[in-house]
Amino acid sequence: MSEKGSYFSQEMNRVKRQLEKKNTKTLVLPPLFAFRDHGVYDFDNYLSFFDWSISNCPVVIDLRQCHTANYQAISLLVAYAWHLKNNGCRVSFIESESQNGASEMYRAIGGRGLFQVAVNPKLNFKSRNKKPLFAIRDSADFKKAIANVETYTENFNVEYLNTLRYVLSELLYNTLEHGKSFFDYRGKSLRAPSLIQFTWYQRSNEIHFIIADTGMGIKSHIEQAYPGQESDEEAIKLAVKPQVSGTFGSTDPYKHKNNAGVGLYLSTNIIRRLKADMHIVSGNGLLHISPRDITGKTLENDWKGTFVLVSVKLEEGANFALHQMMQEFRATAKKEQEKGDKSENDSSFYLSIRNYFGPYAEDKDAAIKYRDDKLFPEIYLEKSIIVDFDDVESAPHSFLSGLFASPMKHLGMKAYKKIKFVNATPEIRETLDFILDENTD
Ligand SMILES: Nc1ncnc2c1ncn2[C@@H]1O[C@H](COP(=O)(O)OP(=O)(O)O)[C@@H](O)[C@H]1O
Ligand SMILES: [Mg+2]
Repeated sequence: MSEKGSYFSQEMNRVKRQLEKKNTKTLVLPPLFAFRDHGVYDFDNYLSFFDWSISNCPVVIDLRQCHTANYQAISLLVAYAWHLKNNGCRVSFIESESQNGASEMYRAIGGRGLFQVAVNPKLNFKSRNKKPLFAIRDSADFKKAIANVETYTENFNVEYLNTLRYVLSELLYNTLEHGKSFFDYRGKSLRAPSLIQFTWYQRSNEIHFIIADTGMGIKSHIEQAYPGQESDEEAIKLAVKPQVSGTFGSTDPYKHKNNAGVGLYLSTNIIRRLKADMHIVSGNGLLHISPRDITGKTLENDWKGTFVLVSVKLEEGANFALHQMMQEFRATAKKEQEKGDKSENDSSFYLSIRNYFGPYAEDKDAAIKYRDDKLFPEIYLEKSIIVDFDDVESAPHSFLSGLFASPMKHLGMKAYKKIKFVNATPEIRETLDFILDENTD
């Protein structure tokens, strides 16, 4: 290369480096980086560190000034770094040599391997000092994580162990099923792992663990089945109710036949019985489950995804009959569910056209009589009407308008919400729409 050329390229590199330096965002970890300050939980303060808007620039996370932290809090930096990477940022960490504080904790959980773990589905974190951090991408990771927890609880009552394992697996399943996120790597879309980190505090004999993801969050997920949630907080409160799941609608005909939607309900009940604490954070919603009560809060800052933080005081002598406890919880869940179904039934009226008028529903006088004797009284009671046309071959305009025209006129626009037609053939459906249209303005 000519002298001139090399001069120019050197100059170019210098300018490039300068520009990069100017664009670099430096995030300095505060002296205290934990969920608790003097024993009091403060998620807002903790979450204020995370800036979710940063993209396409180099980011430096400086751990050097943080002398007090906890492992669960440090673990979330790993998920955050993956998130930044996915936003086009190059992320690096600056550590201190100190044997205390954030830098040492970051090394202890194996944080340095975070980018290798993200792009290699077979790799996991090389944590030490019994401070395990696991990337959760599939059922193999899941099993490894569960097996590792069991090494801490070997001396415990079997039922106790099963109980803990149950809660862990429900939370891990949730993050695998509902908390997915992806990132692009060399033209491929890879799954961003969820995380579980746990720490056994020998002195107080407590286990603390966190299960975290950067997925769509509880609100977006549950809105697939229960649209229009008011806030993250409300969505989390809904998610811990029995039989509530974002994976199927509330009118799903199979909902009674499967076990779905009880994971969080049972886990939160178990947590309360274990004298443990659970915090669920998703978006800016927080739900705290304790033996005493369940309280919600809307935070000022958010976590883009979901994390669940659990602390359990291990009671070695504790005698837990998991099986019996679960039976009890399930029975309560069933009762609550039945109550809900009953109020649903009480507020609606069901009419089967075939049972009442036969497969050829053509008798206009019978329709008018039914309307006045049966239908109107139900409408005055403000019930919603479900009209089932299953197995009905034909129902002409005169019959249908005899039955529905004046109720629709009475209801006005509310008729669209209050009268539901199901299983109608396209011809019948069209006639019904026509009658609705004619009688509702
Ligand atoms: N990590 C998560 N990310 C997003 N949504 C979640 C997560 N965990 C739970 N949810 C929401 O809460 C709902 C209830 O969870 P759960 O009680 O375990 O029932 P299920 O998993 O059988 O649907 C889920 O269906 C989902 O909508
Ligand atoms: Mg579940």
